[in-house]
Amino acid sequence: MTTQKKKVPREAGRALPLQAPRGTQDILPSEQKYWEYVIETAKQVLRGWDWQRLDTPLFEETSLFTVGVGEDTDIVAKELFELKTRGGGAAYSLRPEGTAAVVRAYIEHGMRSWPKPVKLYYVGPFFRYDRPQAGRYRQLHQFGMEVFGSAAPITDVEVIYVAHTLLAQLGLEDYVFHINSLGVPADRKAYVKVLKEHYRRNRTKLCRDCKERLKTNPLRLLDCKEEKCQQVAKGAPRLLDSLSDEARSNFERVVAMLEELGVPHEIRGSLVRGLDYYNGTVWEVFPKSQEPASQAALGGGGRYDGLIKRLGGKDTPALGAAFGVERIVSRLKEEGIELTAFDGPRVFVAQLGDAAKMTALRVMRSLQEAQIHFAESIDREGMQPQLKLASRLGASWVVIIGQKEVLDKTVILRNVVSGMQEVVPQESLAQELSKRLDLP
Ligand code: HAM
Repeated sequence: MTTQKKKVPREAGRALPLQAPRGTQDILPSEQKYWEYVIETAKQVLRGWDWQRLDTPLFEETSLFTVGVGEDTDIVAKELFELKTRGGGAAYSLRPEGTAAVVRAYIEHGMRSWPKPVKLYYVGPFFRYDRPQAGRYRQLHQFGMEVFGSAAPITDVEVIYVAHTLLAQLGLEDYVFHINSLGVPADRKAYVKVLKEHYRRNRTKLCRDCKERLKTNPLRLLDCKEEKCQQVAKGAPRLLDSLSDEARSNFERVVAMLEELGVPHEIRGSLVRGLDYYNGTVWEVFPKSQEPASQAALGGGGRYDGLIKRLGGKDTPALGAAFGVERIVSRLKEEGIELTAFDGPRVFVAQLGDAAKMTALRVMRSLQEAQIHFAESIDREGMQPQLKLASRLGASWVVIIGQKEVLDKTVILRNVVSGMQEVVPQESLAQELSKRLDLP
């Protein structure tokens, strides 16, 4: 057997990249139906529930993330894609998450004067320079939802209930919400003190990252996935035990309402979330049948009452959530959810001769206007190759246009399965096809 060496184009002695950057992926045509399904379902649920769409830029001033998300969080300290720009000036970074930018926009556009609560959603790519692995990308996609102006526990429940509705509407069944409360900032402060004491006593048993976290972000010690650190976490004092009366009562109400609404949930005292802005109720959704590894969360969210003030706005309670599209798409496949929507074109438009090509373009326009998905091969000559292509694509109807049909202003409509043909006026073709395809 002989092997052929692949020719790699080069520039200045260096091989040109022939692969997408590490941690990114091309979303191929065959995958698009999953992506469209997830994003369209999310939009439908959120729009229906009166969330309004907000798009923010893909990059922002870096300080928005250092101040908003937290300088010592992993996504800012280790994973920020900082941009190199010409001419100096402000430092920019690709957005690692959506909440800080939505808050920036909320303040910038004076949304405080809008009727409360202000409910905003977004869909798009985010960037985290993390170590790529299954379920963890450097360009990831999220849809997210934020609510401004409500401090009531019922709104925490509403956000979780909408998330539950959305996952159920997608057809997913195997998921559970892990919930916890981080209390008010004073609860957290007092708790961090006792937590640090516990971890200092066990310092020698910790992984290198956790030794660092002990200095920079002690709450994150609790959700380290290293076995030895989990042992230390098991013996740690619980934040839930040191909540103030108000925070405890709010959390208990949230849990009782989730119970009443039948939302699958578990209380997880070790859940702290990786971003600094949270307080009160926080949560993540995991597949129920798997161990909750950090790269398995389908989504997460919580309250961030202090963030608007921290970013220069007026003190406003707020909360929200975001979901990973890649992770939901892979759960749809793992749960074997069939997407029933017909994906391919059901009609093929074939033509013979130059005059017929002109008519074919007009016919295609009328089909497109009637939202009939068709395939075509306008540059091809000869009927046989076109019919062969139509059958390869799985079309059930072929529209045939030749010289005679051009003159008569008709087309031949052929049923691929039965082989039956009929002559249809061009002007009523879209209507006739809609009937046969059972379209509205
Ligand atoms: P997050 O937990 O960092 O929260 O991300 C939300 C979701 O995005 C995760 O649960 C996961 O599904 C997905 N995700 C995160 N990182 C990656 C990655 N590297 N690869 C693939 N998927 C990923 C936030 O971003 C908060 N802004 C959510 C929020 C909104 N909280 C309040 N409002």
